Amino acid sequence: MNVRKLTPAIGAEISGLDLSTRPDKTSADKIYEALMQHQVVFFRDQNISAENHLSLALSFGEPQLANPLYPRHPASDNIMILRSGADNPPDTGGWHTDITYHQNPPFACLLVAREVPDCGGDTLWLSLTKAWETLPGGIKSEIEELSAVHDMGDFRNNFTEGQSDAGALIDAHQTFGSAIHPLVKTHPVSGRKLLYINESFTQQIIGMRATESNRMLDYLYRHIEQPENQVRFHWTPGAMAIWDNRCTSHYATADYLPHSREMHRITIINDARCPGG
Ligand code: SIN
Repeated sequence: MNVRKLTPAIGAEISGLDLSTRPDKTSADKIYEALMQHQVVFFRDQNISAENHLSLALSFGEPQLANPLYPRHPASDNIMILRSGADNPPDTGGWHTDITYHQNPPFACLLVAREVPDCGGDTLWLSLTKAWETLPGGIKSEIEELSAVHDMGDFRNNFTEGQSDAGALIDAHQTFGSAIHPLVKTHPVSGRKLLYINESFTQQIIGMRATESNRMLDYLYRHIEQPENQVRFHWTPGAMAIWDNRCTSHYATADYLPHSREMHRITIINDARCPGG
């Protein structure tokens, strides 16, 4: 197995591993180690069935039931199908860390490309640890002890489209609720500090007035989203990404319509190698 770093901040491509059979414990441990080091890892040209996808996910932790708003794979309720095209525009554009409107967001995700457009449809990830480490010292001291409210944010639009009243959105607010997270967290495995906000779901820094909070969040987003903190992946059929959702945000570029793109995604709730992490 070969691990090639893609940028100094984040991302590595793994080659020399055939994922059409379940990797043995040593290989799964090595993928995990690369994931902990590089935060997102990529594979190319894999002939990975739904069963392989699921068994690889299981080697990292417990998979989540796929979000009922999206189609599920006939072979497994854990595989979410993200299919976009002219009749179904993508809704995952915008920087986000998955499900931070929950108090315990998931550990990781495995995303497999099933159909890709001829060009476009890339996904970008950024490193929240690098973002923290490169913040000016004065800002670090100002925000280090603060927390912020996260809620369903951009996801709200999924409950308003085609609705004549706000009923579905009101129900969704009750179902999804909100969460409070420190602005600065420590990664449970690497021990690195990270800046835990994302433009899609973070709403307000607690203890600041809304205008002051918006100004600070805007400054922090501009800092986080610098290209130096990012890796961009161009998908090819059979490519797979695994990301550590505890220290990254991602952005799926919605530039390929009217062409289609289909991705299969499994979300892993917990890190089996780091209980409680
Ligand atoms: C996502 O936000 O999980 C989707 C990423 C992608 O489709 O590239």
